[in-house]
Amino acid sequence: MRHLMSPLDLSVDELNTLLDLASDIEKHPDKYAHVCDDKRLATLFYEPSTRTRLSFEAAMMNLGGKVLGFSSADSSSATKGESVADTIRVVSCYADICAMRHPKEGAPLVASMASSIPVINAGDGGHQHPTQTLTDLLTIRSLKGRLDNLTIGLCGDLKFGRTVHSLIEALVRYTNVKFVLISPEELRIPSYIREDVLKKNNIEFQEVERLEDALPDLDILYMTRVQKERFFNEEDYVRMKDFYILDKQKMELAKEDMYILHPLPRVNEIATEVDADPRAAYFKQAQYGVYVRMALILTLLEVKLPC
Ligand code: CP
Repeated sequence: MRHLMSPLDLSVDELNTLLDLASDIEKHPDKYAHVCDDKRLATLFYEPSTRTRLSFEAAMMNLGGKVLGFSSADSSSATKGESVADTIRVVSCYADICAMRHPKEGAPLVASMASSIPVINAGDGGHQHPTQTLTDLLTIRSLKGRLDNLTIGLCGDLKFGRTVHSLIEALVRYTNVKFVLISPEELRIPSYIREDVLKKNNIEFQEVERLEDALPDLDILYMTRVQKERFFNEEDYVRMKDFYILDKQKMELAKEDMYILHPLPRVNEIATEVDADPRAAYFKQAQYGVYVRMALILTLLEVKLPC
């Protein structure tokens, strides 16, 4: 039995196979409409979510399966003091696979050690968000036709943004991927990503503060919101929250074929006027999230695929 805690739990070959499956699902959804008719997915969300929870549920329903779960810790027995280990032991009796989001880093890993069903990390604190990374990789590969030879700008809250941490870890395994890390001084990437992931793998990267300086060189711009829920005080958040606002004027500096991604939710960091730009790919990205989660469910459940 396999779990997914980090994108690195999948080898590059496994990742490419999974993305191929997601692309086939996109092209031939009917082929997969009943492959999980007898399966159930539990979504255990101890922290708010729109996309991740609903796209997991849509994914299982698209495969013919059923879903159950809770959308906040308040509506679960966590409020009575139940541990994630006990919760997953019980949920293992009700479902075949589980997606868990938790504010504490490592909570899905603790759950996986007590589980008798596959556990998927649907976001743990400021740590990892592997299924967002699968979504991002499928989006980039579908739009650019490749995952190598790319210059990727990551902009915003690189300190607390777990999607950024997971995406860097996944992309360093591809050839000639360069990063431009665009953030205010206080929200730079954690040193373990800089030292243990980027420098250790001899990846070319630069850290800059001005988005305008970085834009002309980028193939992909990955915008992120400032993670309000991870700040220790409101004052710091208010000071940082509008540091970057991508608007039509700034987009004039970007290449014609540079795509904008964002894991969403968006707050102010992309002006709504940018939504009409053909390079704005963030809503398409949310759709890719369904295909890739369908592929992940099939892979972890080892479902026999239709011809
Ligand atoms: N991208 C993402 O994780 O969105 P949600 O928080 O709405 O799930």
